[in-house]
Amino acid sequence: MRTFDKILVTGGAGFIGSHLVRNALVEFPNAEIINLDKLTYAGNLENLKDIESNPKYSFVKGDICDLEFVKQLFEDYHFDLVVHLAAESHVDRSIENPFAFLHTNILGTANLLHTVVKSDHDCLFYHVSTDEVYGSLGETGLFTESTSYDPRSPYSASKASSDHLVRAFYHTYGLPVLISNCSNNYGPYQFPEKLIPLVIHNFLNQKSVPVYGDGLNVRDWLYVEDHVKAIFAILKKGRIGETYNIGGNAERTNIDIVSRIGEIIDNIEGRTYNNYKEYVTFVKDRPGHDRRYAIDCTKISKELEWNPSVTMKKGLEQTIKWYLTNKNWLDNVTSGDYRSYYKKQYGDFK
Ligand SMILES: NC(=O)c1ccc[n+]([C@@H]2O[C@H](COP(=O)([O-])OP(=O)(O)OC[C@H]3O[C@@H](n4cnc5c(N)ncnc54)[C@H](O)[C@@H]3O)[C@@H](O)[C@H]2O)c1
Repeated sequence: MRTFDKILVTGGAGFIGSHLVRNALVEFPNAEIINLDKLTYAGNLENLKDIESNPKYSFVKGDICDLEFVKQLFEDYHFDLVVHLAAESHVDRSIENPFAFLHTNILGTANLLHTVVKSDHDCLFYHVSTDEVYGSLGETGLFTESTSYDPRSPYSASKASSDHLVRAFYHTYGLPVLISNCSNNYGPYQFPEKLIPLVIHNFLNQKSVPVYGDGLNVRDWLYVEDHVKAIFAILKKGRIGETYNIGGNAERTNIDIVSRIGEIIDNIEGRTYNNYKEYVTFVKDRPGHDRRYAIDCTKISKELEWNPSVTMKKGLEQTIKWYLTNKNWLDNVTSGDYRSYYKKQYGDFK
């Protein structure tokens, strides 16, 4: 079982990263955890307020695309593990402005890989990726680790490129790497541009809930804490150079998800039965919208004895409860500040 002393988490102020950092302090109690994050609109230090004074944790604001900065960071701390999550992560934004995605997801990853290879310390590189690299499935079938890559959005193409770079550094330079490709996550602290928090936010505020196309696109859903547990299992016992698929065995159509959330919120808020339906609005489909994703997790289940533990029912209830009790968090991130930040950073895409 591997253990580590100095861990760099990139993108630790984001949704999955913040869950990972918090849990890493428990999983590796003797390690020092450094969270490197640029704090884009998606990065929010409030996500880690409860652990900010932990002596084993520190935050460094910086950009993985700044090679000199990254090199200096590696000279200052001698990391023995990098868990790389920093990315532009929202498909719709990648359709509006692909270049921000190519920059951070490809160049940023290359900077980290290059720096680790050049450093004189042994360091394991763990790359957190997505099942979207595999493209779209028909009615049947599952993505396995040997499914050919077929990305269809600028986001998934940028993540696919970064996966290829990680493998290239393993084969070319002998860099020890691990990769995981995970399905759609949901849970507390997710920015309300993604389906589940967006739907919760809009139903709570009795606003229109947009559903792409016919609403029958299928995704596999995984509760974020289960994803993080899978990452720890791979970090501790995964075979170097290998890729592991992670999924929730929970395929749902988008309209199923929307309806389920609507029913739970109507119930909690004491609204009339099916009140939520008034707010569901079908909108023009997203260009290149993949029809179905589904994951075969046999490898991680057999090799590392990891299986999802939170059912979709329980996970959704917990998530809705969290957003209800953390309305301040939601108000802060939806106040509009992030929009002006985004514009200042990237400008309007033409
Ligand atoms: N959310 C999902 O369903 C899902 C599923 C599978 C894989 N992933 C992958 O997991 C990772 C994290 O996803 P998430 O949903 O938590 O994303 P997120 O958008 O919530 O967080 C991304 C974080 O990266 C930071 N960041 C962005 N650009 C940066 C840069 N140039 N330098 C330093 N930090 C930067 C942001 O500030 C933010 O804190 C991503 O790599 C994503 O591709 C996400």
